[in-house]
Amino acid sequence: MAETVPVQHLPRPRISYRKPARPHYLERDDYVKPASEIDLDAIDFVDVEQWRQHKMWDRFARLRKEDPVHYTPDSPVGPYWSITRYEDVKAVDVDNKRFSSDASYGGITLGKPLEEFTAESFISADEPDHWNQRKPMQPAVAPALLRNEFEPLIRERTRAVLDSLPDDKPFDWVEAVSTELTAMMLATLLGYPQERRRELTRWSDVTTNPFDPDICPGGREQWLQELNACLGTFSTIYAERQSAPPTNDLISLLAHGPATRNLSPQELLGNVLLLIIGGNDTTRNTMSGGIYALNKFPDEYAKLRDDPGLIPNMVSEMIRWQTPLAYMRRTALEDVSMHGKTIRKGDQVAMWYISANRDERFWEQDPDALIIDRKQAKDHISFGFGIHRCYGNRLAELQLRILWEEIMQRFTHIEVIDEPSRTSSAFVHGYTWLPVICHRKA
Ligand code: HEM
Repeated sequence: MAETVPVQHLPRPRISYRKPARPHYLERDDYVKPASEIDLDAIDFVDVEQWRQHKMWDRFARLRKEDPVHYTPDSPVGPYWSITRYEDVKAVDVDNKRFSSDASYGGITLGKPLEEFTAESFISADEPDHWNQRKPMQPAVAPALLRNEFEPLIRERTRAVLDSLPDDKPFDWVEAVSTELTAMMLATLLGYPQERRRELTRWSDVTTNPFDPDICPGGREQWLQELNACLGTFSTIYAERQSAPPTNDLISLLAHGPATRNLSPQELLGNVLLLIIGGNDTTRNTMSGGIYALNKFPDEYAKLRDDPGLIPNMVSEMIRWQTPLAYMRRTALEDVSMHGKTIRKGDQVAMWYISANRDERFWEQDPDALIIDRKQAKDHISFGFGIHRCYGNRLAELQLRILWEEIMQRFTHIEVIDEPSRTSSAFVHGYTWLPVICHRKA
């Protein structure tokens, strides 16, 4: 996959401090009650305020202890079950005979898909459709391609982005680094023009935040309009790639794959959005989360300075600690008993990866802490488990490893100077703003 535009020639976004319009300290501090002050039955993770204020941890801890298979009878997304312990999440994730991802039952996020706009893809398909569609996409993340083509390309871009950062001056890490690097990678994967890479970020943000007034001030109408623009753009590219010789970019692979060469508009949009969101939000939020975590745990930062050889293990630990996708949903295909409860056929089940990754039953060292040489770091469940296990996991690890190798070459400290602002989402666990100052090595 040859890269045609040298990174030095790409237009770069303005680096800024960009304090958010709705600062976190104006949020309703009293709105999210401590877990000990609410009825067990009332615990519900759908209200996004608890995520924005980052006050969901004690609720998960309480459920893990008192009610590991928890039923929420009434919520804006309808009734659903919460699975919160590590071993239980893993058991549901591998049991794709009894727990479905299929879009016809509701797919992989809680609630009913919006009727005006359906998007289907292989993440929301069961076997054999899932594998028939996933298999032809494998060449785009093949180990040899990652090693020989992506590694030098990612390193060159990472160096250019880090070298352009201001010294000793505050700026927003999310915008200047995390979003920029993931957008560049995504444009390469999709064979999309680099100059227009931020359109991909925008479509990812719009899709995952339809009800966030900061992102979609025009509400549902704007949301539909922007996703229609995304579909229009990719329908044209898909048609062009169908009539061109096959290459390893993801749209070409879709256009030539036996099971994906005649996708309906909904299926095309679904697969494009899956790749855009999968390759964007997740890695981006781990890039920001890692900086934040090392500032929260300065002894770990010191450990890293002493031994940069810890970076590969630290990358797994950062992905565990951040858990950029908080859950995946399944639908029960038959009645299933767990911990004395009966999940009924047709019920929605949320596998809370974010809780499993903090389960004190599984993790031998404090699960709430970032411990960069944690022995079990690679056992995290942030990539899921079973047949839908993340398709881009190796690529994400590669991007994060290179980022940290290059950071350690250049900076003595990347200092977080204020609490971050966070995504208003129970699904994407991330940051919208992370103000930092970079201290460059002499
Ligand atoms: C699937 C997380 C990076 C593309 C998944 C799933 C999770 C996940 C939890 C499982 C879905 C399920 O079980 O239903 C992450 C995390 C990442 C990351 C935490 C980074 C730290 C990426 C990247 C790409 C990507 C870079 C794109 C190249 C996908 C795709 C699937 C997937 C296409 C669907 C796989 C399937 O259904 O077979 N990811 N992801 N992900 N991810 Fe990732």
